[in-house]
Amino acid sequence: TIVSGKAIVQTARQQGYAVGAFNTNNLEWTQAILRVAQAKQAPTIIAASMGAIKYMGGFETVAHIVRDLDQSFGITVPIAIHLDHGDYTAAKAAIKAGFTSVMFDGSHLPLAENLEKTREIVALAHEQNISVEAEVGSIGGEEDGIIGTGEIAPIDDAVAMIQTEIDFIAAGIGNIHGRYPKDWQGLNLAHLKDLTTTLDSMTHSQVPFVLHGGSGVPDDQIRAAISMGVAKVNVNTEAQLAFHQALRDFILTDQDLIGKNYDPRKLLAPGVTAVETSLAERLAVFGASSH
Ligand code: G3H
Ligand code: ZN
Repeated sequence: TIVSGKAIVQTARQQGYAVGAFNTNNLEWTQAILRVAQAKQAPTIIAASMGAIKYMGGFETVAHIVRDLDQSFGITVPIAIHLDHGDYTAAKAAIKAGFTSVMFDGSHLPLAENLEKTREIVALAHEQNISVEAEVGSIGGEEDGIIGTGEIAPIDDAVAMIQTEIDFIAAGIGNIHGRYPKDWQGLNLAHLKDLTTTLDSMTHSQVPFVLHGGSGVPDDQIRAAISMGVAKVNVNTEAQLAFHQALRDFILTDQDLIGKNYDPRKLLAPGVTAVETSLAERLAVFGASSH
């Protein structure tokens, strides 16, 4: 069932777990995420980056694929269709196309401009019960051409951002997109605690916090972050690595040279299964199953 992102992320925060926000790349990926969500009874966010949306054929196409599969698979758990790291134009296009949640990522803009544009997107989105995520500080590393400095989010920036009435907030706390370097220092959990304590003291309802760069963060750090207010964890790279490894193993060991494995539906199947296994493991760590 397609719902607004706000509904599921706020519930997760109140109940002390995190919703998985899993990036999709294509039809198979979308199917895999929906199957895992339903099998684990986990409210889930299907996230699409601007790059993935372009690849899949546009905003409407992505929204239609998710909505149609949700129906035809008979998905009963809540599912949100979310724009991941969108710019101003993309956020507007996603709202128009039927996404139920958008991230406006103005983290590379001067703070005043980030706040102003976020406010505009909030006004447009909330009219249609679409939730909005924004970012302060910066997530390190690179995702789909989006490169971040990894700046730890100043508390004051987060305080100003919350006043735009966004529904959940992403902030740099030492997290990085893609693979973590060997000498990575870990999440700055002390800073996360300061951020969420400050934000919670300002509002009636608790503000759900979003952890980007979920791939490769050790389970204990994820659990600690959830206990401090993280209610949405974004995962992309991990599923891609699982897909790549399984597909590679399959091709390199496939002896059925005159058989039928050149059929893409057979060829991709081991990769898709690996994506499902990898996402299901994450949902268990997030405490998101059986809700
Ligand atoms: O916005 C998407 C996520 O932050 C994905 O990060 O690829 O490191 O899991 P990841
Ligand atoms: Zn991200």
